[in-house]
Amino acid sequence: MGLMKVMTILVLFVSVSSTLAQSNNGGHISILVSEMGLDFAKDYLIKKVITVTLPLQLPDIENKVKIPLIGKVRMGLSNIQIDAVHVQSSKIETRKDGIVLSVLGATANLSMDWSYTYRASFFEISDHGDASVEVKGMDLKITATLVNDNGSLKIVSRENDCTVENIDIHINGGASWVVDAFQKMIISTVEKTVSTKIVENMKKLDSFLQSLPKQRKIDDAAAVNLTFTGNPVLGNSSVEVDINGLFLPKGDDVKVSGSRSSSVFGGVKRMVTISVEEEVFNSATLVYFNVSSQILI
Ligand SMILES: *[C@@H]1O[C@H](CO)[C@@H](O)[C@H](O)[C@H]1NC(C)=O
Ligand SMILES: *[C@@H]1O[C@H](CO)[C@@H](O)[C@H](O)[C@H]1NC(C)=O
Ligand SMILES: *[C@@H]1O[C@H](CO)[C@@H](O)[C@H](O)[C@H]1NC(C)=O
Ligand SMILES: *[C@@H]1O[C@H](CO)[C@@H](O)[C@H](O)[C@H]1NC(C)=O
Ligand SMILES: *[C@@H]1O[C@H](CO)[C@@H](O)[C@H](O)[C@H]1NC(C)=O
Repeated sequence: MGLMKVMTILVLFVSVSSTLAQSNNGGHISILVSEMGLDFAKDYLIKKVITVTLPLQLPDIENKVKIPLIGKVRMGLSNIQIDAVHVQSSKIETRKDGIVLSVLGATANLSMDWSYTYRASFFEISDHGDASVEVKGMDLKITATLVNDNGSLKIVSRENDCTVENIDIHINGGASWVVDAFQKMIISTVEKTVSTKIVENMKKLDSFLQSLPKQRKIDDAAAVNLTFTGNPVLGNSSVEVDINGLFLPKGDDVKVSGSRSSSVFGGVKRMVTISVEEEVFNSATLVYFNVSSQILI
Protein backbone atom coordinates (compact mmCIF):
# COMPACT_ATOMS: atom_id res chain seq x y z
CA MET A 1 0.00 0.00 0.00
CA GLY A 2 2.82 2.36 0.99
CA LEU A 3 4.69 1.52 -2.17
CA MET A 4 1.66 2.36 -4.31
CA LYS A 5 1.57 5.76 -2.68
CA VAL A 6 5.26 6.32 -3.34
CA MET A 7 4.78 5.35 -6.95
CA THR A 8 1.84 7.73 -7.28
CA ILE A 9 3.83 10.54 -5.73
CA LEU A 10 6.82 9.84 -7.98
CA VAL A 11 4.66 9.85 -11.09
CA LEU A 12 3.04 13.10 -9.98
CA PHE A 13 6.37 14.78 -9.34
CA VAL A 14 8.23 13.46 -12.37
CA SER A 15 5.53 14.51 -14.78
CA VAL A 16 6.02 18.12 -13.78
CA SER A 17 9.72 18.16 -12.94
CA SER A 18 12.15 20.18 -14.95
CA THR A 19 15.42 22.04 -14.59
CA LEU A 20 15.14 25.59 -13.45
CA ALA A 21 17.22 28.65 -13.07
CA GLN A 22 18.49 27.34 -9.78
CA SER A 23 18.47 29.66 -6.81
CA ASN A 24 19.67 27.23 -4.23
CA ASN A 25 17.86 28.12 -1.07
CA GLY A 26 18.48 24.85 0.73
CA GLY A 27 15.16 23.43 -0.42
CA HIS A 28 14.87 20.15 -2.22
CA ILE A 29 11.75 21.06 -4.19
CA SER A 30 11.49 24.28 -6.20
CA ILE A 31 8.18 25.62 -7.36
CA LEU A 32 8.35 28.11 -10.19
CA VAL A 33 5.15 29.98 -10.94
CA SER A 34 5.40 31.31 -14.50
CA GLU A 35 3.78 34.38 -16.01
CA MET A 36 0.85 32.21 -17.07
CA GLY A 37 0.52 30.86 -13.53
CA LEU A 38 0.67 34.33 -12.04
CA ASP A 39 -2.01 35.50 -14.47
CA PHE A 40 -4.19 32.58 -13.50
CA ALA A 41 -3.65 33.29 -9.79
CA LYS A 42 -4.46 36.97 -10.35
CA ASP A 43 -7.71 36.25 -12.20
CA TYR A 44 -8.67 33.67 -9.58
CA LEU A 45 -7.95 36.07 -6.72
CA ILE A 46 -9.87 38.96 -8.28
CA LYS A 47 -12.88 36.76 -8.98
CA LYS A 48 -12.75 35.25 -5.51
CA VAL A 49 -12.45 38.61 -3.76
CA ILE A 50 -15.38 40.02 -5.75
CA THR A 51 -17.70 37.08 -5.04
CA VAL A 52 -16.76 36.95 -1.37
CA THR A 53 -17.10 40.68 -0.65
CA LEU A 54 -20.22 41.53 -2.67
CA PRO A 55 -22.71 42.90 -1.84
CA LEU A 56 -20.53 45.30 0.12
CA GLN A 57 -22.13 47.68 2.60
CA LEU A 58 -20.49 51.10 2.87
CA PRO A 59 -20.70 53.32 5.94
CA ASP A 60 -23.37 56.04 5.97
CA ILE A 61 -22.10 59.50 5.15
CA GLU A 62 -23.34 62.84 6.38
CA ASN A 63 -21.95 66.15 5.28
CA LYS A 64 -22.69 69.86 5.51
CA VAL A 65 -22.27 71.45 2.12
CA LYS A 66 -22.44 75.11 1.08
CA ILE A 67 -24.58 75.46 -2.03
CA PRO A 68 -24.74 78.78 -3.95
CA LEU A 69 -28.11 80.62 -3.58
CA ILE A 70 -29.27 78.05 -1.03
CA GLY A 71 -26.76 78.14 1.79
CA LYS A 72 -25.70 75.41 4.17
CA VAL A 73 -27.28 72.07 3.38
CA ARG A 74 -27.07 68.95 5.52
CA MET A 75 -26.75 65.98 3.16
CA GLY A 76 -26.85 62.32 4.01
CA LEU A 77 -26.37 58.99 2.24
CA SER A 78 -27.43 55.72 3.82
CA ASN A 79 -27.87 52.05 2.90
CA ILE A 80 -24.99 52.44 0.46
CA GLN A 81 -24.18 49.15 -1.13
CA ILE A 82 -21.90 48.01 -3.93
CA ASP A 83 -23.97 45.43 -5.80
CA ALA A 84 -21.77 44.55 -8.75
CA VAL A 85 -18.22 45.10 -9.98
CA HIS A 86 -16.93 44.49 -13.46
CA VAL A 87 -13.18 44.28 -14.04
CA GLN A 88 -12.20 45.01 -17.62
CA SER A 89 -8.45 44.70 -17.44
CA SER A 90 -5.89 43.77 -14.86
CA LYS A 91 -2.24 42.83 -14.80
CA ILE A 92 0.37 41.41 -12.50
CA GLU A 93 4.05 42.29 -12.65
CA THR A 94 7.06 41.14 -10.70
CA ARG A 95 9.61 43.79 -9.93
CA LYS A 96 12.72 43.91 -7.82
CA ASP A 97 10.75 45.54 -5.01
CA GLY A 98 7.72 43.25 -5.10
CA ILE A 99 4.69 41.93 -6.90
CA VAL A 100 2.42 44.59 -8.36
CA LEU A 101 -1.22 43.82 -9.06
CA SER A 102 -3.19 46.48 -10.88
CA VAL A 103 -6.79 46.72 -11.99
CA LEU A 104 -7.61 49.35 -14.59
CA GLY A 105 -10.96 50.90 -15.44
CA ALA A 106 -13.19 48.71 -13.31
CA THR A 107 -16.85 49.67 -13.00
CA ALA A 108 -19.14 49.22 -10.05
CA ASN A 109 -22.86 49.58 -9.47
CA LEU A 110 -24.08 51.01 -6.21
CA SER A 111 -27.48 51.62 -4.73
CA MET A 112 -28.26 54.02 -1.89
CA ASP A 113 -30.78 56.29 -0.16
CA TRP A 114 -30.21 60.02 -0.06
CA SER A 115 -31.65 62.90 1.93
CA TYR A 116 -31.02 66.58 2.56
CA THR A 117 -32.33 69.40 4.73
CA TYR A 118 -31.74 73.13 4.82
CA ARG A 119 -33.35 76.23 6.25
CA ALA A 120 -34.96 78.77 3.94
CA SER A 121 -36.12 81.84 5.94
CA PHE A 122 -38.44 80.29 8.56
CA PHE A 123 -38.95 76.92 6.93
CA GLU A 124 -36.96 73.74 6.97
CA ILE A 125 -36.88 72.17 3.55
CA SER A 126 -36.03 68.51 3.18
CA ASP A 127 -36.24 65.77 0.60
CA HIS A 128 -35.20 62.16 0.26
CA GLY A 129 -35.20 59.34 -2.25
CA ASP A 130 -33.07 56.56 -3.65
CA ALA A 131 -30.38 56.47 -6.30
CA SER A 132 -28.47 54.07 -8.45
CA VAL A 133 -24.88 54.98 -9.13
CA GLU A 134 -22.45 53.67 -11.68
CA VAL A 135 -18.81 54.17 -10.72
CA LYS A 136 -16.55 54.20 -13.75
CA GLY A 137 -12.80 54.15 -14.22
CA MET A 138 -11.93 52.64 -10.87
CA ASP A 139 -8.19 51.97 -10.71
CA LEU A 140 -6.55 49.82 -8.07
CA LYS A 141 -2.90 49.17 -7.44
CA ILE A 142 -1.40 46.86 -4.84
CA THR A 143 2.29 46.31 -4.22
CA ALA A 144 3.34 43.45 -1.97
CA THR A 145 6.42 41.44 -1.17
CA LEU A 146 6.57 37.78 -0.16
CA VAL A 147 9.07 36.90 2.54
CA ASN A 148 9.98 33.78 4.46
CA ASP A 149 8.95 34.03 8.08
CA ASN A 150 10.17 31.02 10.08
CA GLY A 151 9.42 28.59 7.28
CA SER A 152 6.07 30.12 6.27
CA LEU A 153 5.34 32.64 3.55
CA LYS A 154 4.35 36.09 4.73
CA ILE A 155 2.92 38.97 2.72
CA VAL A 156 4.41 42.35 3.39
CA SER A 157 2.01 44.84 1.88
CA ARG A 158 3.69 48.04 0.92
CA GLU A 159 1.26 50.17 -0.96
CA ASN A 160 -2.32 50.07 -1.99
CA ASP A 161 -4.27 52.62 -3.78
CA CYS A 162 -7.77 53.06 -5.11
CA THR A 163 -8.77 55.97 -7.31
CA VAL A 164 -12.09 56.61 -8.99
CA GLU A 165 -12.17 58.59 -12.21
CA ASN A 166 -15.83 59.49 -12.47
CA ILE A 167 -19.30 58.39 -11.53
CA ASP A 168 -22.70 58.41 -13.12
CA ILE A 169 -25.61 59.08 -10.79
CA HIS A 170 -29.24 58.39 -11.54
CA ILE A 171 -31.28 59.91 -8.78
CA ASN A 172 -34.98 59.35 -8.44
CA GLY A 173 -36.24 62.81 -7.47
CA GLY A 174 -34.09 65.68 -6.24
CA ALA A 175 -32.61 68.71 -7.95
CA SER A 176 -29.50 68.81 -10.09
CA TRP A 177 -27.38 70.51 -7.40
CA VAL A 178 -28.09 67.50 -5.21
CA VAL A 179 -26.38 65.21 -7.73
CA ASP A 180 -23.26 67.42 -7.90
CA ALA A 181 -22.93 67.59 -4.15
CA PHE A 182 -23.35 63.85 -3.67
CA GLN A 183 -20.87 63.03 -6.41
CA LYS A 184 -17.79 64.07 -4.42
CA MET A 185 -19.04 62.37 -1.27
CA ILE A 186 -19.61 59.08 -3.08
CA ILE A 187 -16.23 59.09 -4.83
CA SER A 188 -14.29 59.61 -1.61
CA THR A 189 -16.32 56.97 0.25
CA VAL A 190 -15.80 54.37 -2.46
CA GLU A 191 -12.06 55.07 -2.60
CA LYS A 192 -11.71 54.81 1.16
CA THR A 193 -13.86 51.68 1.54
CA VAL A 194 -12.26 49.78 -1.32
CA SER A 195 -8.76 50.56 0.02
CA THR A 196 -9.77 49.30 3.47
CA LYS A 197 -11.27 46.17 1.92
CA ILE A 198 -8.05 45.46 0.02
CA VAL A 199 -6.03 45.67 3.25
CA GLU A 200 -8.49 43.26 4.91
CA ASN A 201 -8.19 40.78 2.06
CA MET A 202 -4.39 40.97 2.07
CA LYS A 203 -4.49 40.14 5.78
CA LYS A 204 -6.76 37.17 5.09
CA LEU A 205 -4.45 35.91 2.36
CA ASP A 206 -1.50 36.38 4.69
CA SER A 207 -3.08 34.37 7.50
CA PHE A 208 -4.00 31.67 4.98
CA LEU A 209 -0.34 31.43 3.91
CA GLN A 210 0.83 31.38 7.53
CA SER A 211 -1.65 28.64 8.37
CA LEU A 212 -0.32 26.27 5.69
CA PRO A 213 1.01 23.18 7.45
CA LYS A 214 4.78 22.75 7.62
CA GLN A 215 4.36 18.99 7.44
CA ARG A 216 1.92 16.93 5.51
CA LYS A 217 1.13 13.43 6.65
CA ILE A 218 1.03 10.95 3.78
CA ASP A 219 0.09 7.89 5.79
CA ASP A 220 0.91 6.39 9.18
CA ALA A 221 4.50 5.82 8.14
CA ALA A 222 5.53 9.05 6.50
CA ALA A 223 5.12 12.79 6.21
CA VAL A 224 6.62 15.39 3.88
CA ASN A 225 8.42 18.44 5.21
CA LEU A 226 6.68 21.41 3.58
CA THR A 227 8.77 24.10 5.27
CA PHE A 228 9.62 26.98 2.92
CA THR A 229 13.35 27.59 2.65
CA GLY A 230 14.76 30.99 1.86
CA ASN A 231 12.86 33.97 0.49
CA PRO A 232 10.77 33.66 -2.69
CA VAL A 233 12.75 34.80 -5.72
CA LEU A 234 11.04 37.24 -8.06
CA GLY A 235 12.09 36.70 -11.66
CA ASN A 236 10.96 38.35 -14.84
CA SER A 237 7.21 37.63 -14.63
CA SER A 238 7.76 34.65 -12.37
CA VAL A 239 8.01 33.72 -8.73
CA GLU A 240 10.06 30.85 -7.38
CA VAL A 241 9.63 29.35 -3.94
CA ASP A 242 11.62 26.49 -2.45
CA ILE A 243 10.36 23.98 0.07
CA ASN A 244 12.36 21.40 2.01
CA GLY A 245 10.29 18.56 0.51
CA LEU A 246 12.00 15.64 2.25
CA PHE A 247 10.06 12.63 3.48
CA LEU A 248 10.03 12.18 7.23
CA PRO A 249 9.38 8.86 8.95
CA LYS A 250 6.78 9.60 11.62
CA GLY A 251 8.00 13.16 11.90
CA ASP A 252 11.78 12.49 12.25
CA ASP A 253 14.47 13.66 9.89
CA VAL A 254 16.06 11.35 7.33
CA LYS A 255 19.66 11.73 6.31
CA VAL A 256 19.87 11.28 2.56
CA SER A 257 22.08 12.40 -0.26
CA GLY A 258 21.67 12.87 -3.99
CA SER A 259 21.78 15.46 -6.71
CA ARG A 260 19.18 17.60 -8.36
CA SER A 261 17.05 15.76 -10.87
CA SER A 262 17.37 16.93 -14.41
CA SER A 263 14.44 15.62 -16.36
CA VAL A 264 13.42 18.18 -18.92
CA PHE A 265 10.07 18.49 -20.58
CA GLY A 266 10.53 21.33 -23.01
CA GLY A 267 8.16 23.09 -25.34
CA VAL A 268 4.98 23.08 -23.27
CA LYS A 269 3.93 26.34 -21.65
CA ARG A 270 3.35 25.70 -17.99
CA MET A 271 1.73 27.64 -15.20
CA VAL A 272 3.78 25.96 -12.53
CA THR A 273 7.03 24.05 -12.83
CA ILE A 274 8.11 21.86 -9.97
CA SER A 275 11.71 20.78 -9.73
CA VAL A 276 12.53 17.90 -7.45
CA GLU A 277 15.96 16.89 -6.19
CA GLU A 278 16.97 13.27 -6.02
CA GLU A 279 17.12 13.55 -2.20
CA VAL A 280 13.35 13.66 -2.14
CA PHE A 281 13.04 10.30 -3.89
CA ASN A 282 15.86 8.91 -1.76
CA SER A 283 14.19 10.04 1.44
CA ALA A 284 10.90 8.53 0.31
CA THR A 285 12.52 5.22 -0.57
CA LEU A 286 14.40 5.15 2.74
CA VAL A 287 11.30 5.85 4.80
CA TYR A 288 9.17 3.27 3.02
CA PHE A 289 11.92 0.66 2.76
CA ASN A 290 12.42 0.91 6.53
CA VAL A 291 8.69 0.52 7.13
CA SER A 292 8.42 -2.54 4.87
CA SER A 293 11.42 -4.25 6.46
CA GLN A 294 9.95 -3.67 9.92
CA ILE A 295 6.67 -5.23 8.82
CA LEU A 296 8.51 -8.25 7.37
CA ILE A 297 10.38 -8.78 10.65
C1 LIG B 1 -24.43 48.55 -13.95
O1 LIG B 1 -25.63 49.13 -14.37
C2 LIG B 1 -25.66 49.46 -15.76
C3 LIG B 1 -26.94 50.22 -16.03
O2 LIG B 1 -28.00 49.67 -15.31
C4 LIG B 1 -25.58 48.16 -16.55
O3 LIG B 1 -25.59 48.42 -17.92
C5 LIG B 1 -24.27 47.46 -16.18
O4 LIG B 1 -24.19 46.22 -16.85
C6 LIG B 1 -24.17 47.26 -14.69
N1 LIG B 1 -22.83 46.78 -14.37
C7 LIG B 1 -22.62 45.71 -13.62
C8 LIG B 1 -21.19 45.40 -13.34
O5 LIG B 1 -23.52 45.03 -13.15
C1 LIG C 1 9.05 28.59 14.11
O1 LIG C 1 8.45 27.38 13.64
C2 LIG C 1 8.65 26.26 14.51
C3 LIG C 1 8.14 25.02 13.83
O2 LIG C 1 6.96 25.21 13.13
C4 LIG C 1 7.96 26.55 15.84
O3 LIG C 1 8.14 25.47 16.72
C5 LIG C 1 8.58 27.80 16.44
O4 LIG C 1 7.90 28.15 17.63
C6 LIG C 1 8.49 28.96 15.46
N1 LIG C 1 9.26 30.09 15.99
C7 LIG C 1 8.79 31.34 15.96
C8 LIG C 1 9.70 32.39 16.50
O5 LIG C 1 7.68 31.61 15.49
C1 LIG D 1 12.06 40.73 -18.91
O1 LIG D 1 10.85 41.04 -19.56
C2 LIG D 1 10.93 42.14 -20.42
C3 LIG D 1 9.53 42.47 -20.93
O2 LIG D 1 8.74 41.32 -21.05
C4 LIG D 1 11.90 41.81 -21.56
O3 LIG D 1 12.01 42.91 -22.45
C5 LIG D 1 13.27 41.48 -20.96
O4 LIG D 1 14.15 41.09 -21.96
C6 LIG D 1 13.16 40.38 -19.92
N1 LIG D 1 14.41 40.20 -19.24
C7 LIG D 1 14.96 39.00 -19.01
C8 LIG D 1 16.24 39.00 -18.28
O5 LIG D 1 14.40 37.97 -19.35
C1 LIG E 1 12.03 20.81 7.65
O1 LIG E 1 12.74 21.66 6.77
C2 LIG E 1 13.30 22.79 7.39
C3 LIG E 1 13.92 23.66 6.30
O2 LIG E 1 14.81 22.93 5.51
C4 LIG E 1 14.33 22.36 8.44
O3 LIG E 1 14.89 23.49 9.07
C5 LIG E 1 13.62 21.48 9.46
O4 LIG E 1 14.57 20.99 10.40
C6 LIG E 1 12.93 20.32 8.78
N1 LIG E 1 12.12 19.62 9.76
C7 LIG E 1 12.32 18.34 10.06
C8 LIG E 1 11.43 17.76 11.09
O5 LIG E 1 13.18 17.67 9.50
C1 LIG F 1 14.37 2.76 10.55
O1 LIG F 1 13.63 2.21 11.61
C2 LIG F 1 14.34 2.12 12.84
C3 LIG F 1 13.48 1.39 13.84
O2 LIG F 1 12.24 2.01 14.00
C4 LIG F 1 14.75 3.52 13.29
O3 LIG F 1 15.51 3.45 14.48
C5 LIG F 1 15.56 4.23 12.22
O4 LIG F 1 15.81 5.56 12.58
C6 LIG F 1 14.79 4.20 10.90
N1 LIG F 1 15.64 4.78 9.84
C7 LIG F 1 15.19 5.63 8.93
C8 LIG F 1 16.18 6.14 7.96
O5 LIG F 1 14.02 5.96 8.89
